[in-house]
Amino acid sequence: MNIKLAVMASGRGSNFEALVHAARTGRLHAAICMLVCDQPNAPVCSIARSYDIPVISFDEQTAGKIRAAGCNLIALAGFMRIVSPEFVRQFPGRILNIHPSLLPRFRGLHAQRQALEHHETIAGCTVHVVNSEVDSGTVIAQRVVFIKPGDTEESLSARILKEEHKLYAEAIQHYSGWLS
Ligand code: GAR
Repeated sequence: MNIKLAVMASGRGSNFEALVHAARTGRLHAAICMLVCDQPNAPVCSIARSYDIPVISFDEQTAGKIRAAGCNLIALAGFMRIVSPEFVRQFPGRILNIHPSLLPRFRGLHAQRQALEHHETIAGCTVHVVNSEVDSGTVIAQRVVFIKPGDTEESLSARILKEEHKLYAEAIQHYSGWLS
């Protein structure tokens, strides 16, 4: 399948930028058609504009705009809203998310902090299909990150983020092979 990707993000945008790089360097065979952002002043919007990728806001028209642009896959990349069941129903099996834990461990906010608080020895990141429950759809890919003695939420998050940047493009490429 030729991937036409819409990315949805809310903030810093490092995963979005990693996907753009992967697409530009041929590690991900995808056209990134648009960024959907629910925070007009988020850094991710400037990143998108610097690559001439159209930015659209998140509202009731979003699903229609994604369809009109011919996108066949949606990647949530730090999109900090829960997408409605109605939105999910419109793109069955076509919305992916990246989450900074080894799901099903530590759903929701502050997943890295949760891993530390539970005295885990491993953490990591997961790419999964989005369904109508938070962080609970079918897992497509995971990567383990060792937790080191003395790790803080910041140090662990930074190591996980590095892996997220590699994993998301790989997972999208892999998953697209199963779609027609
Ligand atoms: C990433 O760590 C991503 O996994 C996380 O937000 C961060 C966004 O960073 N997403 C979630 O926690 C979703 N439940 P970024 O804006 O630099 O890509």
